[in-house]
Amino acid sequence: MLDVGCGVATTAIQIARRYGHRGGHLTADAGARRGQYPGRGVADLVTVTSADILALPFDDAAFDVVIAEAVTMFTDRPKAAAELARVTRPGGRVLATEFYWRTPPTPEARDVFLGQVCPGMQFDTVEDWIRIYSAAGLAGLETETGPFEMMTPRGFLADEGPARCLAIMSRVAGRPAYTRKMAWLMPRMAKAVPYLGYIVIAGTKPA
Ligand SMILES: C[S@@+](CC[C@H](N)C(=O)[O-])C[C@H]1O[C@@H](n2cnc3c(N)ncnc32)[C@H](O)[C@@H]1O
Repeated sequence: MLDVGCGVATTAIQIARRYGHRGGHLTADAGARRGQYPGRGVADLVTVTSADILALPFDDAAFDVVIAEAVTMFTDRPKAAAELARVTRPGGRVLATEFYWRTPPTPEARDVFLGQVCPGMQFDTVEDWIRIYSAAGLAGLETETGPFEMMTPRGFLADEGPARCLAIMSRVAGRPAYTRKMAWLMPRMAKAVPYLGYIVIAGTKPA
């Protein structure tokens, strides 16, 4: 399995914990350094490699399953989707999570989110994403959508649980640079969140 743009490898570690060696995990991230994520009891299952989603250093058809969570929208989307499909074996699966506008944003919300919070990011509608992954050569595309709640107090609590929320908040409160960043980010996120949604899109590379 390949998890492209793995961040701190949360998903790969989760899958390794749940499925053990059956997962055969390998992750690639533009920001990663090899060996950056040791420990947690899964170091032998998760390998981190520095790579660009637009030119993955893997052979065609190298993986059964390829995922990219919130990554392609930071890059050339059609090219990134084609790379995900290229490294997937025929009959294998690609799954990506992306953002989309659930309702048309106000010009201010669009500008704040795409111009300030995530400069350079691009996305639009669910139909756009289906078109992009379909053009990448994936078939049987399925989608699931929902509101983007990860960065709302309710979503944060649901994702992290009360104990981790408290731990994260006290870490932020203890570091002025983090506090300043959150004070900058949260009001801007609040402007965009009412219009934002997530889409999970999954498809099969035809055999
Ligand atoms: C929003 S984070 C998502 C991280 C992780 N997938 C998750 O869901 O927690 C976006 C990730 O994409 C990575 N990224 C951005 N551009 C990339 C590129 N061209 N190639 C590979 N990874 C990239 C960033 O380093 C970052 O880790």
